[in-house]
Amino acid sequence: MLYPQKNPNRQTKDLSGKWDFRIDPRNQGLGKGWTKGFSKQQTLSVPASWNEQFAGLRDYLGPAWYQRRFSRHPAAEGKRIFLRFGSVNYLAQVWLNGMKLGTHEGGHLPFVFEITRRLKKENLLVVRVEGFLKPDRVPPGNVPAGPLDSFNNNFNPPASFDFFPYCGIQRPVFLFTTPHESIEDVTVTTNINGKMGIVSVTAQAKTSGPASLWVSVEGFGWKTSIESPLKSGKSTDLLKVPDAKLWAPGSPNLYQLKVELKRNGKTIDQIRLPIGIRTIQVKGSRLLLNGKPIFLKGFGRHEDYAGTGRYLPPKALKKDYANMRWIGANSFRTTHYPYSDEDMDMADRLGFLVIGETPAVGLFFKKEGLSKRLKLCRQFTKDMIERDKNHPCVVMWSLANEPHSHRPAAKAFFKNLAGLARSLDKTRPITLVSYLGVSEESFEFLDAVCVNRYYGWYTEPGDLDKAIPRLSQDLDELYRKFKKPVLVTEFGADAIPGSHADPPTMFSVEYQAEMIERYIGVIRRKPYVVGAHVWNLSDFKTAQATHRPNGMNYKGVFTRDRKPKLAAYVLRKLWSKGKN
Ligand code: GCU
Repeated sequence: MLYPQKNPNRQTKDLSGKWDFRIDPRNQGLGKGWTKGFSKQQTLSVPASWNEQFAGLRDYLGPAWYQRRFSRHPAAEGKRIFLRFGSVNYLAQVWLNGMKLGTHEGGHLPFVFEITRRLKKENLLVVRVEGFLKPDRVPPGNVPAGPLDSFNNNFNPPASFDFFPYCGIQRPVFLFTTPHESIEDVTVTTNINGKMGIVSVTAQAKTSGPASLWVSVEGFGWKTSIESPLKSGKSTDLLKVPDAKLWAPGSPNLYQLKVELKRNGKTIDQIRLPIGIRTIQVKGSRLLLNGKPIFLKGFGRHEDYAGTGRYLPPKALKKDYANMRWIGANSFRTTHYPYSDEDMDMADRLGFLVIGETPAVGLFFKKEGLSKRLKLCRQFTKDMIERDKNHPCVVMWSLANEPHSHRPAAKAFFKNLAGLARSLDKTRPITLVSYLGVSEESFEFLDAVCVNRYYGWYTEPGDLDKAIPRLSQDLDELYRKFKKPVLVTEFGADAIPGSHADPPTMFSVEYQAEMIERYIGVIRRKPYVVGAHVWNLSDFKTAQATHRPNGMNYKGVFTRDRKPKLAAYVLRKLWSKGKN
């Protein structure tokens, strides 16, 4: 799933900006032929969630319609032309010039339609979107209450996940071209042998005659290239880079990979990719990056910003990375869904380690809808790995967050997903993130044990003296049971900006800071703990509920407009000087 790129053989056009928009609360659009265009009601900005752009639409989950006109670009003559949506939450149906291109289910991964034969001089693109909350969707919503299947958060809207179910076209939409004979996919894996970097490149191409692939790696004054004939549209090459500059936090060295499809010396198509030479593996109770133990200190985040909702405009994205750098973090988990392509590129460039997580949050294992949820989780796991496999920043895959794994079906469900993930990527450890801990049976066949812990908040409320020993004991039990590296993937407390208390009291900034500091104190004493991620980097919008003042989750160490709370300074001190 190559990201659209501009180069001598390929063009792109970003369709972001103002689109026509119309809500359809009585679901009449399909019957009224809106697929061929509709009289607009208003315009709105794409990418962004509609819920943040019109106050009256805060809790509106669709259906709603978008339309956008565009002309065919002369440069598209004689090329294949595609339409790519970065993400649309949740169910998108797409028409071009009144003709259905297709449907896509799932709110956090890209999808592409080829429109070569459908394109006219002037074009009308129409998209129908709805984000209804349903038990057989991933992530699910409107889940029948019951201790085995949900937290009974009693959220409004009834999501079974703790972030707002924003809807709409939430990432950039691109038109892009490729030649008719083109490179379809590239898979890069890297290894190290002493000072030698080894880059393995598998490329797939679609040709109508004999052709060859030229693969080159260039960087830091070094260039190596190799030519290999395509065999049934595929080739795999190994390129050696002596004295390789390895990729790691603090030294995010990137080389330029170039793959060219050639015939008689003429370049028919080409792809360029930044790549990082690095290895990641689990060894005993350690996580090794480039053969050395690494500790993940960082955050769970959200793509959440006032005014744009589930779209992080470039300025907010930059600010989040600046905040993570300022505080001394080296990693994050894509809670609870794959983040944008632009975010992953930034993590490569700035040297942040990423646990790539699918949108499987709040899963439950009741029979009804289970096979549909499994099918969707398989699709999302595959799409995520295929989209992000070439990013050096990605060091682990997370198959789910806080599944309600009480029912026996859970283990088989994750065995299935783990098998799929391993078949798609043999180079990265896989895990899932649990709240159950020792009773999460799936850890038996996963590579690391990830738990979210809120002793001192949801249990032992306001009592850290009770909570801290409990945390310590719990982590020891986990390691005793699974003998695998443990990561505390969430811990933290809500702190309403500006609320203070002495002694520290729940919801005060002092309580949040003390809780985080004491958790890190425990974690530092556990040699088998290889990561600590604070929940959350910034405050974020969620559904309304009695435990969510203003429909907000205030567990950020930065506010929603990215200002530091007391805990941010405490963390900066704790994490400075490279300490865990
Ligand atoms: C959970 C969950 C988060 C949620 C957090 C909280 O662990 O994974 O999505 O926001 O707890 O309750 O604040």
